[in-house]
Amino acid sequence: MESPLISTVLNRLNSEKLDLSWFRKKKILVTGGAGFIGSWLVEALVRLGADVSVVDNLWRGSIDNLESSSGEYWIPLDTHFFQSDICDYASINSAMKKSLPDFVYHLADIVAGIDFVFSNELFVYNANTLINTNTFKAVQENRTPGVVYVGTACSYPRSLQTKPGGRPLVEDQVYPADPESAYGWSKLMGEYEANLLAQNTSTEVGILRLQNVYGPRSILSRKRSQVIPSLIRKAILYPEEEFVVWGSGKQSRDFVFVGDVVDALLRIALLGMNKDVIQIGTAQETTVAELAKLIVKTSGKDIPVHFDSSKPEGDGGRCGNFSRARDLLGWNVFTCLEDGIRQTYEWAQSQIQRKMIDLDD
Ligand SMILES: NC(=O)c1ccc[n+]([C@@H]2O[C@H](COP(=O)([O-])OP(=O)(O)OC[C@H]3O[C@@H](n4cnc5c(N)ncnc54)[C@H](O)[C@@H]3O)[C@@H](O)[C@H]2O)c1
Repeated sequence: MESPLISTVLNRLNSEKLDLSWFRKKKILVTGGAGFIGSWLVEALVRLGADVSVVDNLWRGSIDNLESSSGEYWIPLDTHFFQSDICDYASINSAMKKSLPDFVYHLADIVAGIDFVFSNELFVYNANTLINTNTFKAVQENRTPGVVYVGTACSYPRSLQTKPGGRPLVEDQVYPADPESAYGWSKLMGEYEANLLAQNTSTEVGILRLQNVYGPRSILSRKRSQVIPSLIRKAILYPEEEFVVWGSGKQSRDFVFVGDVVDALLRIALLGMNKDVIQIGTAQETTVAELAKLIVKTSGKDIPVHFDSSKPEGDGGRCGNFSRARDLLGWNVFTCLEDGIRQTYEWAQSQIQRKMIDLDD
């Protein structure tokens, strides 16, 4: 069954009269397609008539993410799902040779909560640089006409924090480079390599740089969740789980709803190829304390908020300008934080009530 989240995206794109027939019958490979963002993208592509394959080693993604609410899978798993580790070049190359894509969305990587990232920096850097290089090499070898790569706001220099009410960061402020984490470095090197691919081959390359993405299907578990799903889980489980916010709560982020990101991923294939990095952010900062307050309000419960300053909080604050996305892609912030949090909360509540997930994983 079609999800309302993707119906909203497709209705909007249709109403703008974008040429969505471009996707029809296209063979499209999504790396990381069983993950949070990738699985929503898969549904959108299938509904647009594309012939979609997925490569994912299920390190963090899940086959369940590819199932529609009526219990059918969006793609035939026996022929179109490759459970392969992209750190191994032969695996991604074999998936490419079998699926022969006209277009690749490269979303696979090791992305996790800050606790995991800072405790496993060498692993994250090794894996992500291999995943990117192997995917781009396979794109080259198979002469794939187009590929989209996604970078991250974690690639901005650690000293470049925006202040509430300050100027949102623009794409080229990522250099001179000094990301805070190995994750930020690995994703920046991916952007660099994607640009080299555009400059040195006939493959068209699109690059989106995303601020913090949230929405239904984000990871809710205690070990691996990012800030929004983690606080939503705590609010749902309260008082069984204490509502503790990591850090001072003063750190801020720019939160983008996953439906708006899928929208950008579709637009870039039509309008944003070979145009260097295009940032997707809302240009608005929300402190983690404000976020906690909004989640408590959404829960309708009376929950005291505690801050634990001994826990890491990542960058102090940042948000991203989206002028290039608006001018080149016609992209905008379509979903406000209140609405996005409500959708995410309702989804998480149904998952937890139906015991669909292992919260200790
Ligand atoms: N979620 C965010 O806030 C955010 C922000 C900026 C950028 N991004 C980027 O968006 C992309 C998708 O992120 P997501 O949030 O959907 O994360 P995700 O973890 O849900 O998706 C990544 C997928 O890659 C798969 N994967 C990991 N290692 C692999 C390997 N070696 N071989 C094959 N598959 C592998 C995982 O199993 C997972 O399904 C990533 O490139 C990420 O860097 C995400």
